[in-house]
Amino acid sequence: MTDDKEAALPKGEEESLTAELSPDVSPVVQEFMAEAAQANEEEAEAIAQDTTFAADAGLAGAAFSTASLIGPYISFEHVCKSFGDFIVLEDVSFFVNPGETLCILGRSGVGKSVSLQILMGFLKPDRGTVLVAGQDISGLSEREMQEVRRKVTMVFQNGALFDSVSVGENVAFPLRERRTMEEDQIQQVVKGLLEMVGVAGMENMLPSDLSTGMKRSVAIARALAAQPSAVLYDEPTTMVDPLMAHLLGDLIQRLKVQLHLTSIVVTHDMRFAQKLADRVVFLHEGKASFFGTMEEMHASKDPVLQEFLALDALVLPN
Ligand SMILES: Nc1ncnc2c1ncn2[C@@H]1O[C@H](COP(=O)(O)OP(=O)(O)OP(=O)(O)O)[C@@H](O)[C@H]1O
Ligand SMILES: [Mg+2]
Repeated sequence: MTDDKEAALPKGEEESLTAELSPDVSPVVQEFMAEAAQANEEEAEAIAQDTTFAADAGLAGAAFSTASLIGPYISFEHVCKSFGDFIVLEDVSFFVNPGETLCILGRSGVGKSVSLQILMGFLKPDRGTVLVAGQDISGLSEREMQEVRRKVTMVFQNGALFDSVSVGENVAFPLRERRTMEEDQIQQVVKGLLEMVGVAGMENMLPSDLSTGMKRSVAIARALAAQPSAVLYDEPTTMVDPLMAHLLGDLIQRLKVQLHLTSIVVTHDMRFAQKLADRVVFLHEGKASFFGTMEEMHASKDPVLQEFLALDALVLPN
């Protein structure tokens, strides 16, 4: 199956895939993306060095001592979150390495969206450490969080686009905020980003004119315009047809290969997870009851996880 082939991304295929996926992206966009990719790589290297230093000094968290040589870009360490007496997350730990994709799986109401909101600083954890690019964000002020949100952006389910302005202006927004680009450069980057996410030429439409899947693509283009290092997606495939889901999966995979973006994807869709995930975390009854690779997940004997997978196979027969 081509999906599996893409998910594995053998080294030799990366280059041809990259070339094939953006055949006519304008030079301005290529430059814009290359700038982001280089910054992401430099940041990843800096984190790797920091982590090596921390490990040498015996400071690395015990839970992450078996992490790969490159340190995590984002991690939850013993995170707890309750609303009143209602415990949503109880001692949850997981991580995602730079340039990798983590899928968060679990039944409805287990705290998947809450986890993303904690990462964006919209909710604060009661206990535990939340690291983004080596920085503990759990105690940051709103102003400090705005800096973090330049590195980590979120694609909301409904796209969260500004309804009253055009698609083009939605994507241009982060570019204008930077105040460093000329107008014609902004227009070219917007055009190229829209091409890249598969909605070429829709600059002048209003978000209300678009389908759910197209809105999500535009939301991804807007997220990319901020040149983030990591993108968080909350259920990107719900309410779109299987073809659109497939295209969104291809897009997320392409961003990983071309821009080395780190991604966290909340999904119910196991095929999607199979295609994208380097690691998965399965949340259940407040705990990260499984955290590991897809292969390890399928080999797991955890009855709740097995039931989840079996139910998914029933809902989505091959
Ligand atoms: N701001 C809040 N105040 C009170 N309770 C909340 C708040 N946000 C989330 N919750 C509760 O936390 C629990 C986890 O919610 P969350 O939205 O993370 O679930 P989820 O895993 O994303 O589920 P779904 O798959 O249905 O989207 C739910 O019981 C929800 O009602
Ligand atoms: Mg949710």
